[in-house]
Amino acid sequence: MSEATKTATLTFDDKTFELPMHTPTAGPDVIDIRKLYAQAGVFTYDPGFTSTAACDSAITYIDGDAGVLLHRGYPIDQLAEKSHFLEVCYLLLYGELPTADQLEDFEHRVTQHTMIHEQMHNFFRGFRRDAHPMATMVGVVGAMSAFYHDSTDISDPWQREVASIRLIAKMPTIAAMAYKYSIGQPFVYPQNSLDYASNFLRMCFSVPAEDYVVNPILSRAMDRIFTLHADHEQNASTSTVRLASSSGANPFACIAAGIACLWGPAHGGANQAALEMLRQIGTPDRIPEFIARAKDKNDPFRLMGFGHRVYKNFDPRAKVMKKSADEVLELLGVENNPTLQVAKELEKVALEDSYFAEKKLYPNVDFYSGIILDAMGFPTAMFTPIFALARTVGWISQWKEQISDPQLKIGRPRQLYQGPTYRDYVDVENR
Ligand code: ACO
Repeated sequence: MSEATKTATLTFDDKTFELPMHTPTAGPDVIDIRKLYAQAGVFTYDPGFTSTAACDSAITYIDGDAGVLLHRGYPIDQLAEKSHFLEVCYLLLYGELPTADQLEDFEHRVTQHTMIHEQMHNFFRGFRRDAHPMATMVGVVGAMSAFYHDSTDISDPWQREVASIRLIAKMPTIAAMAYKYSIGQPFVYPQNSLDYASNFLRMCFSVPAEDYVVNPILSRAMDRIFTLHADHEQNASTSTVRLASSSGANPFACIAAGIACLWGPAHGGANQAALEMLRQIGTPDRIPEFIARAKDKNDPFRLMGFGHRVYKNFDPRAKVMKKSADEVLELLGVENNPTLQVAKELEKVALEDSYFAEKKLYPNVDFYSGIILDAMGFPTAMFTPIFALARTVGWISQWKEQISDPQLKIGRPRQLYQGPTYRDYVDVENR
């Protein structure tokens, strides 16, 4: 951690405490309260971590008011336009854009790890056919620690590196297998002559009975979806990975914990929920009814794909995603897709509505990603597994950063206790 640049003064009960403050390279100053309890005997209270920095990090920066997302300083729109997913993986993992040789070496290393242990096929077959692919992913990724014993020692930098490459390389294979299993088709082995995104599309959509040629425009759109989801600072699933890892848990267990957290509809599950909502709305004339429901305090309905804890402006990823949705739907000849029409009209109506303006609710990345994935042929149940696949590099980069941090401590929040105070046990006959 950097040296303190100034101090904040906290006064209560006629006592005054000086708290060190740190100035980040970007973003608000941070008050260091680590010694607060020892010195002042009080806790701070911040459920949902709305004002709490839980770690030092040099990977991703978000300016939510300006709608800016930077990976290692590079803006996401430039990365989505000019770079590609594996280069962004390198950037997130190692801190700099690779040279041509470094990139070739990295791509080679990832490609050499795309197959999974053959015995894991049996593991897949233990699931019910109708299991949600996220349920299968949580189980299979967690089980990787039972198959790859040679990369679970987190104190060994080499094993950490091998685990990182394995997870990035195998996640498309695992996600595609979860999909194939759910529709009763044979597993398709990876083909290492293909790029990362094309390989994933082939593992999902090819069958042994027919040739399958990957459309380069769809492959580019897939790669862009991966790039846009690669990392997002200390979000719920990343914080879950960090908390799991703080106890020294192995990387496969930590990433499985991240996948479990991502599954929720307030987080990664929102792209599935957004598309289902757009379909439920069905036609633009029903939009006012759903807008009214979203604004009604007594109705739990929310506009899925709208709002974000950090962005109080357009999610910069949503802008790229919207452009990508137009391109893909035009390519597939479905520009007049009714779901896209509802999405565009809903976005327009919501942005003009004072409720959404006052609460700074803008479309997030999930609003358009579901439309693209649907047009590509993915069922809604696969949307969140694809998000998990892409976010794996972010989880891994944050996990590696945390483990190398000399200040690493087990994560152990405190609480504002509201329960009963001490009372003696009462025998059952006297209750
Ligand atoms: N539709 C209608 N109202 C909303 C929405 C929405 N999508 N999102 C927030 N609000 C309202 C809330 O009702 C609340 O109103 P109030 O102040 O009158 O009580 C206010 O806006 C603030 O909402 P919070 O839930 O307190 O904001 P928070 O930062 O905790 O939530 C979240 C952010 C979870 C993303 C929320 O906006 C939401 O549920 N959105 C829909 C789900 C979604 O799209 N999630 C994807 C997130 S991005 C990602 O994971 C990739």
